Amino acid sequence: MRFAERVVIVTGGGGSGLGRTLVRRFAAEGAAVVVADRDEAAACRAAAEVEEQGGRALAVRTDVRSDEDVRSMAEATRFAYGRIDVLVNNAFTSHPASILDTRVEDWNRDLDVVLTGAFRCSQQVLPTMIDQRRGVIVSVSSVNAHTHVGAAGYSAAKAGVEALTRNLAVEFAPFGIRANALVPGTFRTDVWKDREKIDPDLLDRLATWYPLGQVGMPDDIASAALFLASDEASFITGSLLPVDGGLLAGNPQFARDVHPENHR
Ligand SMILES: NC(=O)c1ccc[n+]([C@@H]2O[C@H](COP(=O)([O-])OP(=O)(O)OC[C@H]3O[C@@H](n4cnc5c(N)ncnc54)[C@H](O)[C@@H]3O)[C@@H](O)[C@H]2O)c1
Repeated sequence: MRFAERVVIVTGGGGSGLGRTLVRRFAAEGAAVVVADRDEAAACRAAAEVEEQGGRALAVRTDVRSDEDVRSMAEATRFAYGRIDVLVNNAFTSHPASILDTRVEDWNRDLDVVLTGAFRCSQQVLPTMIDQRRGVIVSVSSVNAHTHVGAAGYSAAKAGVEALTRNLAVEFAPFGIRANALVPGTFRTDVWKDREKIDPDLLDRLATWYPLGQVGMPDDIASAALFLASDEASFITGSLLPVDGGLLAGNPQFARDVHPENHR
């Protein structure tokens, strides 16, 4: 029970992929979880699932693009539970078109949700964390922040989240607040469903790019998030933790092409 008596906010917590898994896993370890999602019905379903399992959860309809929504969400959390121990910045949108076909409004939307949303949520929880002299912010970045996978606006936003993470970590370390980012590779969630309709073998083919030979599951990312949010990571701040099956470490085909002498 690493999160007994702790209060955790998960943005995008109504999502059927990582968001929901984070909500379930934090609750299973004793946390009261605030499910902050712009999809109110999904947030309510995620909170209801926790309560059915005997846990504590609160659904708060929150669009992370709205200053007012984010302020109200932080207030609702303090009102319900009296403290804020962990914020997970998970909400995202992604416009996957070519740069040439990306309108400024598409670019701005991804920046607003992913980067400015993480900034807004962090800014609203920090005063409580400062008063408590403890708190953890875990932001979900992506391998897109490090290598070309398309979706330029989303990628730039995730790179910004990593810069925000380092700024949060150093500025608020004197108050006992830590900030880290996860850098996931592909993992199996409903976001792939539309592309799987075009290419049913998509995730199996993507798996071949991963040194570990598979794409991840939401629980793989959630395990890393819970670790970074827990006291086990009490000396870890400002870090980026790849949870990517080795994708960013390199590509074995590249190494084979560099060393033909080993593959005659
Ligand atoms: N799925 C992948 O393969 C993959 C790969 C790398 C990184 N990631 C990252 O992992 C995280 C979770 O991805 P997932 O695919 O599991 O999604 P998810 O199932 O967690 O769903 C995301 C949620 O964000 C919510 N959301 C969207 N815009 C919002 C807004 N403006 N305000 C509040 N909520 C909003 C959606 O309603 C949805 O419920 C994201 O940050 C994503 O960028 C995912």
